[in-house]
Amino acid sequence: MVEMTTKRPSGRGRFISFEGGEGSGKSTQIKKVAERLAAAKLRAIVTREPGGSPGAEIIRHLVLSGMGKLLGPDAETLLFAAARDDHVRTVIQPALNQGTWVLCDRFIDSTRVYQGRLGHVSPTMLNAIDRVTIGDLKPDLTIILDVPVEIGMKRAAARRGTAAPDRFEAEDVHFHQELRDAYRQIAAEDPQRCVLIDATPDPDMVAADVWTALRDHLFAQPSAAGSP
Ligand code: TMP
Repeated sequence: MVEMTTKRPSGRGRFISFEGGEGSGKSTQIKKVAERLAAAKLRAIVTREPGGSPGAEIIRHLVLSGMGKLLGPDAETLLFAAARDDHVRTVIQPALNQGTWVLCDRFIDSTRVYQGRLGHVSPTMLNAIDRVTIGDLKPDLTIILDVPVEIGMKRAAARRGTAAPDRFEAEDVHFHQELRDAYRQIAAEDPQRCVLIDATPDPDMVAADVWTALRDHLFAQPSAAGSP
């Protein structure tokens, strides 16, 4: 195994968020990255939004049940914000401060896409929420997994089995197409932070592209082929 050095010399951990529409394969890819980081002897935690801390998991249950939708887009956005505030303060920031890498399933871009683009919540409100919940904290890298809507919805339905779709899975094809467009736009507008990856091929091929993105963005000396 080749020793990897990160681009930033500080002892702070690296923060990677994973984004994408329903059925884009985020959980599978996060698991694979976590395994490779563990093999490289880098300490990492896997977490998610909404959720990731005891308080935020309660809010997750509330929003995914559809309760937040009844309150309207602004109030639903505040629920996501409350969850993020707790998660950042009690889990993400302490981990990064201790030098632990954080792999987060969804973060600020989900809010921009789901509440901003699709819920028409104003950028002014979203920016104000960011100031309170994350301050200067931004992911060092955001992997955006891109998959055609029909494929993503089929995968999500297969994963769900006989369970009822949650609040967002239950939205129509038009909603999911808008989601995909919004993510692609974020990737185009912020290439320093975001890498758009075609998530259509089999998971191992996608994982190779994800690892290349990590190597290019976060490691100063690319490791030899196939390692760690
Ligand atoms: P998931 O973890 O299974 O992807 O479900 C989380 C859902 O919550 C997903 O449909 C996207 C949605 N969501 C938002 O609408 N806004 C947010 O800020 C976050 C983090 C998630």
